[in-house]
Parts: sequence; C-alpha cells; structure tokens
Amino acid sequence: MLRNTEDGYGLVAIVLHWLVAVAVFALFGLGLWMTGLDYYDPWYHRAPEIHKGIGVLLFLVLAFRLVWRLANPRPEPEPSLSAFERRASRLVHALLYVLLLAVMAAGYLISTADGRPIDAFGLFSVPATLTGLPEQADRAGDVHLALAIALVALAAVHALGTLKHHLIDRDRTLLRMLGRGGSRATPPHQP
Ligand code: HEM
Repeated sequence: MLRNTEDGYGLVAIVLHWLVAVAVFALFGLGLWMTGLDYYDPWYHRAPEIHKGIGVLLFLVLAFRLVWRLANPRPEPEPSLSAFERRASRLVHALLYVLLLAVMAAGYLISTADGRPIDAFGLFSVPATLTGLPEQADRAGDVHLALAIALVALAAVHALGTLKHHLIDRDRTLLRMLGRGGSRATPPHQP
C-alpha cells in the first residue's frame, strides 16, 4: 500500500509525485509573476521569500523522493509500451530529476550570491557557500530561468505522453500514478 511493487506505485511515491508536480508549476508561475513586480508593490519582497522558502522545502521533498525511489522496486512499464517508449520514458524521468536539481542549484546561487543565507519560513536557514563569483546573481538568474523553462516544457511533454497512454493505448500508466490502476490481472479497461 505505502511501498511500490513490481506492478504499481505505492501511496508514498504517488503523493510525492503530485506534490512535486504541483509545486514545480506553482513555483514557475510565481517566479514569472514576481520578477515583473514593481519595487513599491507589497509583494516585491514577500513573493521571492515564499518562492525561496518553497524551493528549499521542495529540495528536501525531492531528496526524500530519490531515497524512497532507491529503496523501492521500480514498477514494470505497462506491457503495451514499445521498446522505444520504455527507453524514452526512462530518459525523460531521469532528465526531469536532473533538471529539478539543476534549477534548485541555480536558484541557490542567485539567492546566496551576496553571502546571505536562505530562510525557509523561519524554520531553518540554508547558509551561503559559493559567493562573489563575477555577476553571480545575474548569470545564475539566466541559467535558473532557462532550466526552469526546459523543466516545465519537458514536464508538459511527459504529461502529454501519459495522456496518450490513457486515451489512445488505454493502459494503466496514468491510472496507477493516480492510485487507481488496480492490478495487472484485472485491468480497469477490460469489459
Ligand atoms: C513538473 C511536473 C512533473 C514532474 C517533475 C514529473 C516527474 C516524474 C518522474 C520523475 C516520474 C518517474 C517516477 C519514478 O519512477 O521515479 C514520473 C512518473 C509519472 N508521471 Fe510525472 N511528473 C510531472 C508531472 C506529471 C503530470 C502533469 C502528469 C499527468 C498528467 C504526470 C504523470 C505521470 C505518470 C502517469 C507517471 C508514471 C509513469 C510510469 O509508470 O512509467 N506527471 N513523473
């Protein structure tokens, strides 16, 4: 129930997947909005504090997700997947993890460029380590935005892929990430 099996995702992996997915799209929207704010807007300082706080907490969630993934069996792809789809989905999943970590690393370098730590909603703070590189905040900012766009674009392709499995192939790929896949012996789409 909590843990993955060869046949499907457990509750922990499912909750972590959707938590990260919602947080990524929310942070993307918040990031685009806040960088366009006027200096005198009441959200000018508050929005980046929230963006950074969620980003730091998301890093902890992602670290736990990766540990959980290593400690659990990886569900077998649905039998309807071609060899190409199996390879492509493994590559996309790996790239999503890499992009997530890279976006966070760049965000860390922007926020700590001037030597100040990052505060996570007053719970704890992350100290600055690498500071004072030439134009650090601006360069890390460009990289952060470019990687975030790549991440959201790849996540959209990934989501379209799972919708194709649901609507065209009519397999359990999407349903089992929603905790509604049943078991392979009794596929939900069979009459
Ligand atoms: C930023 C958004 C997202 C990220 C970063 C993300 C990331 C991932 C990753 C890394 C996996 C592989 C899980 C593993 O085995 O470790 C995965 C699986 C999956 N994701 Fe997403 N995802 C996102 C959004 C979505 C959306 C919007 C949908 C559906 C509309 C979706 C549907 C699925 C499904 C169905 C699987 C299971 C695929 C399988 O069993 O092979 N994801 N996702």
